[in-house]
Amino acid sequence: MDVASVFAEPLVDLGTESPAFAGIYAPQSSIGAAKVGVTSQFLENAEQYHRAYFDTGYWNFLLGNALEAAGKPSSPGRIIDIGSGSGNSVIPLADRFPDAEIIATDISPQLLAILRDFLRQRSDGDQRFGLICVDAMAAQYQEEVAGLAVGAAILHHILEPERVLASCFRALAPGGWAIFFEPFEAGNALLKLTYRRILSQASNAERATPGLRFIERMVEDYKRRERPASDPIYRELDDKWMFTRTYFDRLRAKQGWAELITYALNVSPTGLRDQAIVHLRLGAGLTADALPAWAWSVIDESDASVSDDLREELAQEGAVLLRKPLHR
Ligand SMILES: C[S@@+](CC[C@H](N)C(=O)[O-])C[C@H]1O[C@@H](n2cnc3c(N)ncnc32)[C@H](O)[C@@H]1O
Repeated sequence: MDVASVFAEPLVDLGTESPAFAGIYAPQSSIGAAKVGVTSQFLENAEQYHRAYFDTGYWNFLLGNALEAAGKPSSPGRIIDIGSGSGNSVIPLADRFPDAEIIATDISPQLLAILRDFLRQRSDGDQRFGLICVDAMAAQYQEEVAGLAVGAAILHHILEPERVLASCFRALAPGGWAIFFEPFEAGNALLKLTYRRILSQASNAERATPGLRFIERMVEDYKRRERPASDPIYRELDDKWMFTRTYFDRLRAKQGWAELITYALNVSPTGLRDQAIVHLRLGAGLTADALPAWAWSVIDESDASVSDDLREELAQEGAVLLRKPLHR
Protein backbone atom coordinates (compact mmCIF):
# COMPACT_ATOMS: atom_id res chain seq x y z
CA MET A 1 0.00 0.00 0.00
CA ASP A 2 1.18 3.52 -0.78
CA VAL A 3 0.81 4.76 2.78
CA ALA A 4 2.99 7.81 2.18
CA SER A 5 0.36 9.31 -0.13
CA VAL A 6 -2.13 9.48 2.75
CA PHE A 7 0.02 11.86 4.80
CA ALA A 8 0.96 15.46 4.17
CA GLU A 9 4.53 14.97 5.42
CA PRO A 10 7.24 12.36 4.78
CA LEU A 11 7.17 9.12 6.77
CA VAL A 12 10.14 7.19 8.12
CA ASP A 13 10.34 3.50 9.06
CA LEU A 14 10.90 3.26 12.82
CA GLY A 15 12.86 0.06 12.15
CA THR A 16 15.86 2.13 11.09
CA GLU A 17 16.21 3.30 14.72
CA SER A 18 14.84 0.26 16.50
CA PRO A 19 14.51 -3.15 14.76
CA ALA A 20 11.60 -4.08 17.07
CA PHE A 21 9.50 -1.45 15.31
CA ALA A 22 10.36 -2.32 11.71
CA GLY A 23 7.41 -1.84 9.38
CA ILE A 24 5.86 0.85 11.57
CA TYR A 25 6.13 4.31 10.03
CA ALA A 26 6.08 7.74 11.65
CA PRO A 27 5.92 11.30 10.34
CA GLN A 28 9.40 12.77 10.14
CA SER A 29 8.51 15.66 12.45
CA SER A 30 7.50 13.27 15.27
CA ILE A 31 10.85 11.50 15.50
CA GLY A 32 12.35 12.15 18.91
CA ALA A 33 9.30 14.15 20.08
CA ALA A 34 8.06 13.52 23.64
CA LYS A 35 4.83 11.53 23.89
CA VAL A 36 2.78 13.97 25.92
CA GLY A 37 -0.40 12.86 27.72
CA VAL A 38 0.20 9.12 27.40
CA THR A 39 1.52 6.87 30.16
CA SER A 40 3.42 3.60 30.44
CA GLN A 41 0.18 1.61 30.31
CA PHE A 42 0.19 2.00 26.52
CA LEU A 43 3.96 2.19 26.04
CA GLU A 44 6.36 0.07 28.12
CA ASN A 45 3.46 -1.99 29.57
CA ALA A 46 1.74 -2.51 26.21
CA GLU A 47 1.86 -6.31 26.39
CA GLN A 48 0.01 -6.34 29.73
CA TYR A 49 -2.56 -3.84 28.40
CA HIS A 50 -3.10 -5.94 25.29
CA ARG A 51 -3.70 -9.10 27.33
CA ALA A 52 -6.27 -7.38 29.56
CA TYR A 53 -8.25 -5.60 26.83
CA PHE A 54 -7.95 -7.54 23.56
CA ASP A 55 -11.52 -8.52 22.61
CA THR A 56 -12.26 -8.17 18.89
CA GLY A 57 -15.65 -9.92 19.27
CA TYR A 58 -16.98 -7.12 21.48
CA TRP A 59 -15.65 -4.40 19.17
CA ASN A 60 -17.04 -6.17 16.13
CA PHE A 61 -20.46 -6.13 17.79
CA LEU A 62 -20.19 -2.38 18.55
CA LEU A 63 -18.96 -1.62 15.03
CA GLY A 64 -21.81 -3.60 13.47
CA ASN A 65 -24.37 -1.52 15.37
CA ALA A 66 -22.60 1.75 14.55
CA LEU A 67 -22.42 0.96 10.83
CA GLU A 68 -26.11 0.11 10.95
CA ALA A 69 -26.81 3.50 12.62
CA ALA A 70 -24.80 5.18 9.85
CA GLY A 71 -27.10 3.61 7.25
CA LYS A 72 -24.73 0.76 6.27
CA PRO A 73 -22.22 2.82 4.27
CA SER A 74 -20.88 1.10 1.18
CA SER A 75 -17.39 -0.33 1.38
CA PRO A 76 -14.87 2.50 1.84
CA GLY A 77 -11.74 2.37 -0.29
CA ARG A 78 -9.63 3.33 2.68
CA ILE A 79 -10.28 3.39 6.44
CA ILE A 80 -8.26 5.33 8.99
CA ASP A 81 -8.33 3.81 12.45
CA ILE A 82 -7.33 6.29 15.15
CA GLY A 83 -5.68 5.02 18.32
CA SER A 84 -5.70 1.45 17.00
CA GLY A 85 -3.70 0.00 19.87
CA SER A 86 -3.20 -3.70 19.22
CA GLY A 87 -6.15 -3.85 16.83
CA ASN A 88 -9.51 -4.28 18.56
CA SER A 89 -11.30 -2.32 15.85
CA VAL A 90 -8.76 -2.83 13.03
CA ILE A 91 -9.35 -6.57 12.82
CA PRO A 92 -13.19 -6.43 12.68
CA LEU A 93 -12.93 -3.60 10.12
CA ALA A 94 -10.58 -5.70 7.97
CA ASP A 95 -13.04 -8.59 8.07
CA ARG A 96 -16.10 -6.43 7.39
CA PHE A 97 -14.49 -4.53 4.51
CA PRO A 98 -12.20 -7.07 2.76
CA ASP A 99 -11.44 -4.70 -0.13
CA ALA A 100 -10.50 -1.67 1.96
CA GLU A 101 -7.02 -0.47 2.82
CA ILE A 102 -6.66 0.20 6.53
CA ILE A 103 -4.33 2.78 8.07
CA ALA A 104 -3.89 1.89 11.74
CA THR A 105 -2.53 4.83 13.74
CA ASP A 106 -1.45 5.07 17.37
CA ILE A 107 1.02 6.98 19.52
CA SER A 108 2.35 3.69 20.91
CA PRO A 109 4.85 1.82 18.71
CA GLN A 110 4.73 -1.01 21.23
CA LEU A 111 0.99 -1.59 20.70
CA LEU A 112 1.37 -1.21 16.93
CA ALA A 113 4.14 -3.85 16.99
CA ILE A 114 1.72 -6.31 18.63
CA LEU A 115 -0.81 -5.50 15.89
CA ARG A 116 1.85 -5.86 13.18
CA ASP A 117 2.78 -9.35 14.41
CA PHE A 118 -0.89 -10.34 14.53
CA LEU A 119 -1.55 -9.04 11.00
CA ARG A 120 1.44 -10.97 9.64
CA GLN A 121 -0.51 -14.16 10.29
CA ARG A 122 -3.22 -13.03 7.85
CA SER A 123 -2.93 -13.90 4.17
CA ASP A 124 -3.69 -10.24 3.29
CA GLY A 125 -1.41 -8.92 6.03
CA ASP A 126 1.23 -7.38 3.82
CA GLN A 127 -0.88 -5.55 1.29
CA ARG A 128 -3.82 -3.93 3.02
CA PHE A 129 -2.48 -2.42 6.21
CA GLY A 130 -0.39 0.64 7.00
CA LEU A 131 0.87 1.08 10.56
CA ILE A 132 1.61 4.66 11.56
CA CYS A 133 2.95 5.82 14.90
CA VAL A 134 1.55 9.31 15.32
CA ASP A 135 -0.05 11.53 17.93
CA ALA A 136 -3.67 11.73 16.78
CA MET A 137 -3.71 15.45 17.55
CA ALA A 138 -0.81 16.07 15.17
CA ALA A 139 -1.70 13.66 12.35
CA GLN A 140 -1.64 15.58 9.08
CA TYR A 141 -3.59 13.69 6.46
CA GLN A 142 -3.99 14.69 2.86
CA GLU A 143 -7.50 15.86 2.07
CA GLU A 144 -10.26 13.33 1.33
CA VAL A 145 -8.08 10.22 1.48
CA ALA A 146 -10.47 7.98 3.48
CA GLY A 147 -14.08 6.88 3.27
CA LEU A 148 -14.38 6.00 6.96
CA ALA A 149 -12.58 6.93 10.18
CA VAL A 150 -12.94 4.88 13.35
CA GLY A 151 -11.66 5.48 16.87
CA ALA A 152 -12.34 2.86 19.54
CA ALA A 153 -11.94 4.35 23.03
CA ILE A 154 -9.44 6.97 21.95
CA LEU A 155 -10.80 10.52 22.24
CA HIS A 156 -11.00 10.43 26.05
CA HIS A 157 -7.23 9.82 26.15
CA ILE A 158 -6.43 12.88 24.06
CA LEU A 159 -5.48 16.25 25.53
CA GLU A 160 -7.44 18.12 22.83
CA PRO A 161 -9.99 15.79 21.21
CA GLU A 162 -11.22 18.64 19.03
CA ARG A 163 -7.99 18.46 17.02
CA VAL A 164 -8.57 14.77 16.27
CA LEU A 165 -12.02 15.49 14.90
CA ALA A 166 -10.62 18.32 12.77
CA SER A 167 -7.98 16.00 11.29
CA CYS A 168 -10.65 13.35 10.56
CA PHE A 169 -12.77 15.97 8.84
CA ARG A 170 -9.89 16.82 6.54
CA ALA A 171 -9.06 13.18 5.80
CA LEU A 172 -12.61 12.06 5.05
CA ALA A 173 -14.14 12.09 1.60
CA PRO A 174 -17.44 13.98 1.26
CA GLY A 175 -20.23 12.01 2.95
CA GLY A 176 -17.71 9.93 4.96
CA TRP A 177 -18.42 8.94 8.55
CA ALA A 178 -16.21 9.24 11.62
CA ILE A 179 -17.24 6.74 14.30
CA PHE A 180 -16.06 6.85 17.91
CA PHE A 181 -16.85 4.90 21.06
CA GLU A 182 -16.28 6.89 24.24
CA PRO A 183 -17.21 7.22 27.93
CA PHE A 184 -20.09 9.60 28.58
CA GLU A 185 -20.55 11.80 31.60
CA ALA A 186 -24.26 11.25 32.29
CA GLY A 187 -24.14 7.57 33.25
CA ASN A 188 -20.82 7.99 35.01
CA ALA A 189 -22.20 10.89 37.08
CA LEU A 190 -24.89 8.56 38.40
CA LEU A 191 -22.32 5.90 39.18
CA LYS A 192 -20.05 8.46 40.88
CA LEU A 193 -22.93 9.59 43.16
CA THR A 194 -23.77 5.96 43.90
CA TYR A 195 -20.16 5.16 44.83
CA ARG A 196 -20.11 8.25 47.07
CA ARG A 197 -23.26 7.05 48.81
CA ILE A 198 -21.65 3.67 49.43
CA LEU A 199 -18.57 5.31 50.94
CA SER A 200 -20.67 7.52 53.20
CA GLN A 201 -22.49 4.45 54.56
CA ALA A 202 -19.42 2.22 55.04
CA SER A 203 -17.96 1.57 58.49
CA ASN A 204 -14.26 2.21 59.07
CA ALA A 205 -13.61 -1.54 59.01
CA GLU A 206 -15.39 -1.88 55.65
CA ARG A 207 -13.48 1.08 54.24
CA ALA A 208 -10.26 -0.84 54.87
CA THR A 209 -11.30 -3.79 52.65
CA PRO A 210 -9.93 -4.03 49.08
CA GLY A 211 -13.39 -3.54 47.53
CA LEU A 212 -14.21 -0.33 49.41
CA ARG A 213 -10.66 0.97 49.01
CA PHE A 214 -11.14 0.54 45.28
CA ILE A 215 -14.48 2.43 45.38
CA GLU A 216 -12.65 5.25 47.17
CA ARG A 217 -10.04 5.30 44.39
CA MET A 218 -12.79 5.43 41.76
CA VAL A 219 -14.40 8.41 43.49
CA GLU A 220 -11.02 10.18 43.65
CA ASP A 221 -10.48 9.39 39.98
CA TYR A 222 -13.87 10.84 39.04
CA LYS A 223 -13.12 13.90 41.16
CA ARG A 224 -9.77 14.56 39.47
CA ARG A 225 -11.60 14.69 36.15
CA GLU A 226 -13.96 17.42 37.40
CA ARG A 227 -11.12 19.94 36.83
CA PRO A 228 -11.18 22.37 33.92
CA ALA A 229 -9.74 21.11 30.63
CA SER A 230 -6.71 23.41 30.94
CA ASP A 231 -5.51 21.79 34.20
CA PRO A 232 -2.01 20.27 33.75
CA ILE A 233 -3.12 17.16 35.66
CA TYR A 234 -4.58 15.78 32.42
CA ARG A 235 -1.06 15.24 31.08
CA GLU A 236 -0.60 12.61 33.77
CA LEU A 237 -3.99 10.89 33.46
CA ASP A 238 -4.70 8.11 30.98
CA ASP A 239 -8.46 8.55 31.17
CA LYS A 240 -8.95 12.27 30.73
CA TRP A 241 -12.49 13.00 29.54
CA MET A 242 -16.08 11.93 29.75
CA PHE A 243 -18.21 13.38 27.01
CA THR A 244 -21.66 14.83 26.48
CA ARG A 245 -23.72 15.09 23.33
CA THR A 246 -23.56 18.86 23.79
CA TYR A 247 -19.76 18.78 23.40
CA PHE A 248 -19.96 16.96 20.09
CA ASP A 249 -22.86 19.07 18.88
CA ARG A 250 -20.79 22.20 19.48
CA LEU A 251 -17.94 20.71 17.41
CA ARG A 252 -20.39 19.59 14.71
CA ALA A 253 -21.44 23.21 14.26
CA LYS A 254 -17.93 24.65 14.59
CA GLN A 255 -16.18 22.23 12.23
CA GLY A 256 -19.03 21.92 9.72
CA TRP A 257 -20.04 18.27 10.09
CA ALA A 258 -23.39 17.58 8.42
CA GLU A 259 -24.77 15.12 10.92
CA LEU A 260 -24.24 13.91 14.49
CA ILE A 261 -25.64 10.69 15.92
CA THR A 262 -24.99 9.60 19.51
CA TYR A 263 -26.46 6.66 21.38
CA ALA A 264 -25.77 4.71 24.55
CA LEU A 265 -23.94 1.38 24.44
CA ASN A 266 -24.84 -1.63 26.56
CA VAL A 267 -28.21 -0.29 27.74
CA SER A 268 -29.49 -2.60 30.47
CA PRO A 269 -31.72 -2.48 33.58
CA THR A 270 -28.58 -3.45 35.52
CA GLY A 271 -26.28 -0.99 33.74
CA LEU A 272 -24.68 0.46 36.88
CA ARG A 273 -24.19 -2.97 38.47
CA ASP A 274 -22.63 -4.24 35.21
CA GLN A 275 -20.29 -1.24 35.04
CA ALA A 276 -19.29 -1.60 38.70
CA ILE A 277 -18.38 -5.25 38.06
CA VAL A 278 -16.22 -4.18 35.10
CA HIS A 279 -14.58 -1.44 37.21
CA LEU A 280 -13.72 -3.92 39.98
CA ARG A 281 -12.33 -6.48 37.53
CA LEU A 282 -10.30 -4.21 35.27
CA GLY A 283 -9.33 -1.64 37.91
CA ALA A 284 -8.33 -3.97 40.73
CA GLY A 285 -8.67 -7.58 39.61
CA LEU A 286 -11.54 -8.04 42.07
CA THR A 287 -14.82 -9.95 41.77
CA ALA A 288 -18.30 -8.87 42.88
CA ASP A 289 -17.89 -10.43 46.33
CA ALA A 290 -15.26 -7.76 47.14
CA LEU A 291 -18.20 -5.47 48.00
CA PRO A 292 -20.69 -6.25 50.80
CA ALA A 293 -24.27 -7.16 49.86
CA TRP A 294 -25.61 -3.84 51.15
CA ALA A 295 -23.31 -1.94 48.72
CA TRP A 296 -24.77 -3.91 45.81
CA SER A 297 -28.25 -3.02 47.12
CA VAL A 298 -27.29 0.67 46.90
CA ILE A 299 -26.13 0.16 43.30
CA ASP A 300 -29.30 -1.80 42.45
CA GLU A 301 -31.40 0.98 43.97
CA SER A 302 -29.74 3.50 41.63
CA ASP A 303 -30.33 1.16 38.68
CA ALA A 304 -34.00 0.78 39.64
CA SER A 305 -34.50 4.54 39.96
CA VAL A 306 -33.98 5.06 36.21
CA SER A 307 -36.77 4.53 33.67
CA ASP A 308 -36.17 2.47 30.53
CA ASP A 309 -36.35 5.65 28.43
CA LEU A 310 -33.87 7.56 30.59
CA ARG A 311 -31.46 4.60 30.42
CA GLU A 312 -31.17 5.27 26.68
CA GLU A 313 -29.94 8.79 27.49
CA LEU A 314 -27.83 8.08 30.58
CA ALA A 315 -24.96 6.52 28.67
CA GLN A 316 -21.86 5.39 30.55
CA GLU A 317 -20.34 4.52 27.21
CA GLY A 318 -21.66 5.93 23.96
CA ALA A 319 -21.19 5.80 20.20
CA VAL A 320 -20.54 9.08 18.40
CA LEU A 321 -21.04 9.28 14.63
CA LEU A 322 -20.23 12.39 12.62
CA ARG A 323 -20.77 12.70 8.90
CA LYS A 324 -18.90 15.02 6.60
CA PRO A 325 -21.19 16.95 4.22
CA LEU A 326 -21.63 15.55 0.73
CA HIS A 327 -21.03 18.98 -0.77
CA ARG A 328 -18.71 21.79 0.33
C1 LIG B 1 -8.16 2.51 25.33
S1 LIG B 1 -6.89 2.28 24.17
C2 LIG B 1 -7.81 1.75 22.78
C3 LIG B 1 -6.99 1.02 21.79
C4 LIG B 1 -7.78 0.33 20.68
N1 LIG B 1 -8.54 1.26 19.89
C5 LIG B 1 -8.67 -0.71 21.28
O1 LIG B 1 -9.90 -0.56 21.17
O2 LIG B 1 -8.14 -1.64 21.87
C6 LIG B 1 -6.40 3.91 23.77
C7 LIG B 1 -5.34 3.97 22.71
O3 LIG B 1 -5.07 5.34 22.45
C8 LIG B 1 -3.68 5.49 22.21
N2 LIG B 1 -3.35 6.90 22.43
C9 LIG B 1 -3.31 7.59 23.58
N3 LIG B 1 -3.00 8.88 23.35
C10 LIG B 1 -2.86 8.99 22.01
C11 LIG B 1 -2.56 10.07 21.14
N4 LIG B 1 -2.33 11.29 21.62
N5 LIG B 1 -2.51 9.84 19.82
C12 LIG B 1 -2.72 8.60 19.31
N6 LIG B 1 -3.03 7.53 20.09
C13 LIG B 1 -3.10 7.73 21.41
C14 LIG B 1 -3.05 4.53 23.18
O4 LIG B 1 -1.73 4.21 22.85
C15 LIG B 1 -4.01 3.36 23.09
O5 LIG B 1 -3.66 2.46 22.09
